[in-house]
Amino acid sequence: MQLADLPTLVCPRCQEDLAWEGTNLEGILQNGQLACEICDVSWKVEDGFPRMFLEEDLRSTDRRIRILHDSLPRAHKPALKVALPLLGAGREKALREAFLSALGPLDSPMRLLEIGIGEGANLPQLQRVLPEGSEIWGIDTSTGLLELCRSRWAGALFVEDARLVAADAHRLPFSDDTFDRILHVGGLGRFDDSEQVLGEMLRVARPGARVVLVCKSLDPDHPHPVWVQSAFRLWTFYDPTPGLPTTWLSDRVEDLHNERINRFYTCAHFSAP
Ligand SMILES: C[S@@+](CC[C@H](N)C(=O)[O-])C[C@H]1O[C@@H](n2cnc3c(N)ncnc32)[C@H](O)[C@@H]1O
Ligand SMILES: [Zn+2]
Repeated sequence: MQLADLPTLVCPRCQEDLAWEGTNLEGILQNGQLACEICDVSWKVEDGFPRMFLEEDLRSTDRRIRILHDSLPRAHKPALKVALPLLGAGREKALREAFLSALGPLDSPMRLLEIGIGEGANLPQLQRVLPEGSEIWGIDTSTGLLELCRSRWAGALFVEDARLVAADAHRLPFSDDTFDRILHVGGLGRFDDSEQVLGEMLRVARPGARVVLVCKSLDPDHPHPVWVQSAFRLWTFYDPTPGLPTTWLSDRVEDLHNERINRFYTCAHFSAP
């Protein structure tokens, strides 16, 4: 992240501007802090990552997921690679290609936010389809996964350009109307309060911005062996309805579509009001 990107970040508690104090290397952020005078909180920046949440503000499920990912960041990718085909959800690459067209026309430079970017598995595709001059911002509560994202793609321009921030989806460190596209893949059903997260997405999305959500949902029209049903329940922390709060959404968004990608995932996409 560059010094020039800092004005895009605001305090996640009060959404006011922040004052930067710290070091940079030829404009690239190193260590320091972003201070909020109103909340009297300083958000630390370590090794180039702004950390825009406090551990005590994370709710129980989010904290458990953060600890899990920070303890075993390298397990995430192999788990997906093995689990998806085994569970009848197809290959990971096909899943990642499926949502690209839902992003809508990509004909001028834009600012895209990926919520829960993890180790950046979507970055290569995004970089391929977004026009030059676009900005990709990625947030995640797991600094372990963010660090892995940086090392996994080390040397690739798209990761050097990506703005990676440790932040909680329930309190985004951005002002209203900041993004032209918002993407989320795979975790919404396990976030502590999916309606609050969707509310935050709508707040930071510009009017008309396309929002794309790939969600875990077991296809009700397909017979599943008992072990697949059990694996799905385990994966979704035994949430029987891990999908989208569709009624909540349809009252607030425009042009809502919800399409099945495969037996395990749906892709919802809509425009922010
Ligand atoms: C299923 S993974 C998907 C990762 C990546 N987007 C991908 O497609 O491979 C969900 C991600 O959401 C992150 N996450 C979980 N709770 C979060 C929260 N409250 N705020 C932001 N990210 C969160 C996890 O750390 C994880 O990286
Ligand atoms: Zn504040």
